[in-house]
Amino acid sequence: MANVAVIGTQWGDEGKGKVVDLLTDRADCVVRFQGGNNAGHTLVVEGRKFILHLIPSGILHQGKVCMIGNGVVVDPEVLVGEMDRLEEHGVAVGPGNLVLSRYAHVIMPYHKALDLCREARKGKTKIGTTGRGIGPCYEDKASRGGVRVHDLFDERGLREKLEAVLEEKNFLFRRFFQEKGFEADEVAEKYLQHGERLKPYAGDVSRRLQDVCDKGGQVLFEGAQGTHLDIDHGTYPYVTSSSTVAGNACCGSGVGPGRIHKVAGIAKAYTTRVGEGPFPTELDDETGERIRREGGEFGSTTGRPRRCGWLDMVVVSTSKRLNGLAELMITKLDVLTGLETLKVAVAYECGPERLDSTPPEIGALEACRPVYEEFPGWEEDIGGVRDYSRLPANTRRYLEAVEEMAGIPVTLISVGPGREETILRSHPFDS
Ligand code: IMP
Repeated sequence: MANVAVIGTQWGDEGKGKVVDLLTDRADCVVRFQGGNNAGHTLVVEGRKFILHLIPSGILHQGKVCMIGNGVVVDPEVLVGEMDRLEEHGVAVGPGNLVLSRYAHVIMPYHKALDLCREARKGKTKIGTTGRGIGPCYEDKASRGGVRVHDLFDERGLREKLEAVLEEKNFLFRRFFQEKGFEADEVAEKYLQHGERLKPYAGDVSRRLQDVCDKGGQVLFEGAQGTHLDIDHGTYPYVTSSSTVAGNACCGSGVGPGRIHKVAGIAKAYTTRVGEGPFPTELDDETGERIRREGGEFGSTTGRPRRCGWLDMVVVSTSKRLNGLAELMITKLDVLTGLETLKVAVAYECGPERLDSTPPEIGALEACRPVYEEFPGWEEDIGGVRDYSRLPANTRRYLEAVEEMAGIPVTLISVGPGREETILRSHPFDS
């Protein structure tokens, strides 16, 4: 029996959704523990594309339980919409296969409005958030003014809470942002309705996970965003508002650290970033454009073009330390096919210093220049390869260099968007 956490090692969009979907075959339960519908996990199964923002990527497998932990921030409209869309595609979603933590915080309409107002006001200094209200919701959680899922089942309590919260928020909207603000009654009506729809799904995720583990079941913890968007360890302030590292899988779902037996890091074969913030290996040229085109690098949540650049092993190695990675899974390797030479950042030069991990202050990171190692590319189509030994020699050379630089094995290689377009060298649930 083993429980595995899957974590993004870069700035998100590493292809965690596909990997989680694939690994779910050996899990009994998949749990999300942080973030919200700022995430967009794209899955392609039997030629059909699903984009999930909140529901764990294991939902497409029958007989598996998906859980949304207390550390997630939940927009009920998005959740209900996602449940409906899955049903329309013939994927059954019910309390038997979806559990929503009663203690998860709810993204309210004023959180979304505040996110947008703040970004608009910041102008050039904006973070480039997804505008989904994630930050303001986590702020209310920390300031003890948040609405949790169970509050949606308590009419009087919700009305009282909203009256109190909106007194302050409306002052801000009306006096500072010159916006209309929100009426507590209107918000309450709408969110009580959401509560009715979601009540059958609400439960205690921590206890449910304990039951799964006590019965010998296996749990897959699904990270969202990436390590370098972590509120503490990322490129602050250009980060998301939750802790994206493996340690938070415990806190955000209610299990002890001993319950997580292995952490697998997902890295795209190159690097992307959405929104603002430093990005040392960014390519602002034809190669970057080509990677964006070939990789379809447009945000699955906002549609924004992603910034693209070379693989940065300084970023990935820092993630290894922050998450305790035991193995690495490389995605979108096929996108690099046809490039004559591939570059990989192996260190940073920062003035007279040579660094092998990302400096925690963005000023220092912005001053860093990547030191590249070059590798010959390959022309062969690798999309149909399922056996590592059948990859072109230059592809293996690239992967082996990555493996050596990371100091951990590359156990999975994704060579296309489909579930089957994968080379699985060993399954993380195996040991
Ligand atoms: P927020 O999470 O919407 O507050 O956005 C904060 C930063 O994190 C912005 O740069 C977003 O583009 C980025 N971000 C948030 N979620 C994701 C994700 O799932 N993938 C990639 N970037 C993300």
